[in-house]
Amino acid sequence: MAYKIDITLTPHKKEKPASDKLGFGIHYTDHMFILDYSVDKGWHDARIVPYGPITLDPAAKVFHYGQTIFEGLKAYRTADGRIQLFRPQKNFQRLNLSNARLSIPDLDGELALEALKALVRVDQDWIPDAPGTSLYIRPFVIATQAALGVAPSTQYKFMIIMSPVGAYYAEGINPVKIYVESEHVRAVKGGVGEAKTAGNYAAGLNAQEAASKKGYSQILWLDGVHRSYIEEVGSMNVFFKINGEVHTPALSGSILAGITRDSMIQLIQSWGIPVIERPITIEEIYEAGRTGALEEAFGTGTAAVISPIGELNWQDERLTINDGKTGELSSKLYETLTGIQNGTLADPFGWTVEV
Ligand code: COI
Repeated sequence: MAYKIDITLTPHKKEKPASDKLGFGIHYTDHMFILDYSVDKGWHDARIVPYGPITLDPAAKVFHYGQTIFEGLKAYRTADGRIQLFRPQKNFQRLNLSNARLSIPDLDGELALEALKALVRVDQDWIPDAPGTSLYIRPFVIATQAALGVAPSTQYKFMIIMSPVGAYYAEGINPVKIYVESEHVRAVKGGVGEAKTAGNYAAGLNAQEAASKKGYSQILWLDGVHRSYIEEVGSMNVFFKINGEVHTPALSGSILAGITRDSMIQLIQSWGIPVIERPITIEEIYEAGRTGALEEAFGTGTAAVISPIGELNWQDERLTINDGKTGELSSKLYETLTGIQNGTLADPFGWTVEV
């Protein structure tokens, strides 16, 4: 079905940053997509407009009660000039799961994908093509009704903004040092941990800041009840290679179901390596580290793709993993996944979608 999307082009195109100065989420393209929701009209007024500030009432519910969700995905420019997205339908499926958890009305995933493709086409000159770069896409929904009663908003905006990006971490795919957080937790079962909502990220800032002052790049999050079961690393899913098998925490309700996580599992299994999704304690990871059974550990997410873990610090006990070096599996996963994403490798899984 074709949807009506109004397009207003900007007369003031911005200068594009050099590919070695991209950083992550610093520069924004020339246009953005907006779709409004009201109870009487449903989702309406799909439009692409020049990128810029929006006006909201100070009483808008997003500011007070955090009724908001977001997604993250990337567009890539292939060597032969095509543009491709990576598993975008999965992002819009997850967006609607997050919507449901936050009492935000369901959004037509086909409309969202068509809007996204239209926006990428309008701003296609912004897709960088240097190795390790891509166009990061941030779809999000905010509650805009001006009302301070604690109840679901009657008005929303769905928007898409885009940013040309390089590596998420300064370390790139070099291993990072991780602090295992024993006091704060990111999320609990029954809460909003499996929704991609702002509060989960706000909840982690304080511990992340403290870890950063101690010289650690990120936090390893443990479960909220036992402070023992491993959940996520930073804003990524986490994997451990132990005795030739790969283990990752089972999705428990407090862990985000990463699309990169799912892709990594499929890739690893396709190479004949078993992947076991199960509850994993920090105690057993340290034990596997001490006996030499722990071969590699890494985080996975859209932003960083893969981030090897070189060192853990849990209750002041340091555990060095794979001599602090990037492991063979981490490198192969990075090369294979980014190769499929940017079109230098075949896509046997049918993950990429041409724009
Ligand atoms: C990702 O790994 O893609 C994330 O969700 C991180 C993002 C919040 C910057």
